[in-house]
Amino acid sequence: MLARVLVTHPLVEGGLDLLEGRYEVVQGEGLEQPEELARAIVGMDALIPVVAARVSGEVFAAADRLKVVANCAVGVDNVDLGEARRRGVRVTNTPGVLTEATADLTWAALLAVVRRVVEGDALVRGGGFRGFGPTLLLGVDLCGKTLGIVGLGQIGRAVARRAAGFGLRVIFSDPTQAAELDLGLLRAERVPLEDLLRQADFVSLHTPLTPETRHLLDAERLALLRPRAYLVNTSRGPVIDEAALTWRLQQGLLAGAALDVYEDEPRLGSGLAELPNVVLLPHIGSATVETRRRMAQMAAANADAVLQGREPPNPVS
Ligand code: GLV
Repeated sequence: MLARVLVTHPLVEGGLDLLEGRYEVVQGEGLEQPEELARAIVGMDALIPVVAARVSGEVFAAADRLKVVANCAVGVDNVDLGEARRRGVRVTNTPGVLTEATADLTWAALLAVVRRVVEGDALVRGGGFRGFGPTLLLGVDLCGKTLGIVGLGQIGRAVARRAAGFGLRVIFSDPTQAAELDLGLLRAERVPLEDLLRQADFVSLHTPLTPETRHLLDAERLALLRPRAYLVNTSRGPVIDEAALTWRLQQGLLAGAALDVYEDEPRLGSGLAELPNVVLLPHIGSATVETRRRMAQMAAANADAVLQGREPPNPVS
């Protein structure tokens, strides 16, 4: 009998080719809630979830043959790692392959909010464009300003590299990596998080979501941001206290925000959608055909390795 691999969502074509014929691939159509995952996991040897699938203790408790959770994402906050470890189930992720795509999207989001791209698009589509206006939809310059990067992992570095092209000075803070970081050719200065929040014109978040980074930007830290600063989040929603952020935006205490992730995804915190100076994206940081295919291929290779009794290429635990 072939080992069985459960995939929670349809993935990009070709991503799971490695598994074809070697395993019985059971394709879910969007298994996300713990209860439905717990039902579907029975009899499965491997699980390939995406970030929307909540692989909680309940899922591990129901699993009777599970050997590996090959997350199709770099972040693993959707998986109960403690429970996986306790039950001897390996967990893997997809580092590296989504770095550039996510950095690109970060810049798309930053530019969109700072240069009011979405407002402009809505104006033109709505028939409100009456010709060039010298004060129409004014944004602010990037060149010569300061970008603060919170979390200088692979994605944070890729965002920092792009900053040079825009003429920005880069400062960073890394709450999850205490040791001195090798910056290589990167021109960036490490500062304490509080200083970064006080100094930066643009702040971009790139930390993983862990118990330590949950609400890293709470009401108190958000209050350190300059009123003319912009905040971008393409990491994980709960890194920011979304209600506190919304309040500051409503009060005009922050120039704008661009969010690709939310505290209680896919639900939007109340008031957020009414704000014109906020760009809201549907968690598409890694959403390019090439990247999503590489992520699926990596997840498939990780699942395959564990099922074949080998060490997976990208172990988390
Ligand atoms: C996507 O959000 C990921 O963590 O890969």
